[in-house]
Amino acid sequence: MKLSVIGCGYLGAVHASAMAELGHEVVGIDVDQAKIEQLAAGRPPFFEPGLPEILTSAGASGRLRFSTDMADVAEATVHFVAVGTPQMRDSHAADMRYVDAAIDALIPFLKEGDLVVGKSTVPVGTAARLAQKLADSGSGATLAWNPEFLREGFAVKDTIEPDRLVYGVADERAASILDEVYATALGTGTPRIVTDYATAELVKVSANAFLATKISFINAMAEIAEVTGADVSQLADAIGHDARIGRRFLNAGVGFGGGCLPKDIRAFTARAEELGRGESVAFLKEVDAINLRRRQRVVDLAVEALGGSVYNKRIAVLGVTFKPDSDDVRDSPALDVAVQLKGLGARVVSTDPQGIENARIRHPQLDYAGTADEALAGADLVVLATEWKQFRELDPVRSATLVAGASVIDGRNVLDAAAWRAAGWTYRGMGRP
Ligand code: UDX
Repeated sequence: MKLSVIGCGYLGAVHASAMAELGHEVVGIDVDQAKIEQLAAGRPPFFEPGLPEILTSAGASGRLRFSTDMADVAEATVHFVAVGTPQMRDSHAADMRYVDAAIDALIPFLKEGDLVVGKSTVPVGTAARLAQKLADSGSGATLAWNPEFLREGFAVKDTIEPDRLVYGVADERAASILDEVYATALGTGTPRIVTDYATAELVKVSANAFLATKISFINAMAEIAEVTGADVSQLADAIGHDARIGRRFLNAGVGFGGGCLPKDIRAFTARAEELGRGESVAFLKEVDAINLRRRQRVVDLAVEALGGSVYNKRIAVLGVTFKPDSDDVRDSPALDVAVQLKGLGARVVSTDPQGIENARIRHPQLDYAGTADEALAGADLVVLATEWKQFRELDPVRSATLVAGASVIDGRNVLDAAAWRAAGWTYRGMGRP
């Protein structure tokens, strides 16, 4: 099929490449010339395992092109809209400016029978509004809403082998066009839910709200564990064996960050309030508050570990990204902790396998080290804030020889506490004795 993807940020670049990899002919459109040039050269402007490979192979096959000229969508019949919906500067609501601008720019190039497919995460009600806009345009194109559930670090796999497909459609024809787009996944038995626009939009935000709630739930249990001497990791293992609960997303620690969960729960709350149903999701404010308290908890533990003040102490913060296998530092707990410690007068040195460049743009005031060894050298305290493999596998015996003070805060509960203690470290975890 001939597809276009409007917006080549994280979601759009991955979607365009994956669709081309599956055999479709794809043109990716973005207003950012530099981004388009990088993608066209096979170099994604962000780190995502497996993406450079498919970008290069799809590009070489001639099935994938990138352009800044919207007119290049003319041959495509299915147009995915994958632009960002960031949090507004002065409120928690999603900023819909880019979605509307993309649709407005697309309309002049649409033909009778074209399908516009929304992928961006939007406030419920958006699709109905955009469908009306398309109808009013007289272009003859119709709309579907097809939310995306990809995780950073697994984005290529999640796109090529999604665990479900959700189509918000107004007619059967739209569903059958999407079936053709996703024929490969459907052929392997991927479940497909065909529904109305509002349900499709809500599936996306409620999935993220549920995941965020699961994380904050276990972090709330960590807070209770901290005052009772219980171990939240064991607790998670034990409740996770109940298939109704499940062990995944029950890892207590410094909390969730990234470009999706924090912004999506806030935008969902704002939208529910607009709809007069604020009370239905009032708990999400608590989810957000618990999450932010865990960052403070790490800072408090650091103060405690250093005898009451971090002032002028050297602290190695391992990790700047919001999770491993990503270079994304948006709303990153790791970076937030580093900034707070620096604000308290600590000499903070952050390190990360992929995220330093992005972190430096946002926080040029922090010091960065290229390797964990460099960060550890002479440190009075080590804070593991992002569970990169490199950090999980640090040798406590060797690490002890590098630091000035063998004290570690395991902000992700991923270190072997007994082994670190045996190597002479004072170990502090999150919700662990
Ligand atoms: C999330 C959703 O998982 C994905 O389906 C959606 O499309 C986009 O948002 P992503 O932001 O890539 O994906 O990250 P995810 O793996 O969900 O992790 C989010 C945050 O939660 C990270 O900061 C992670 O460290 C944290 N987390 C995750 C925990 O603190 N504990 C857990 O048990 C799981």
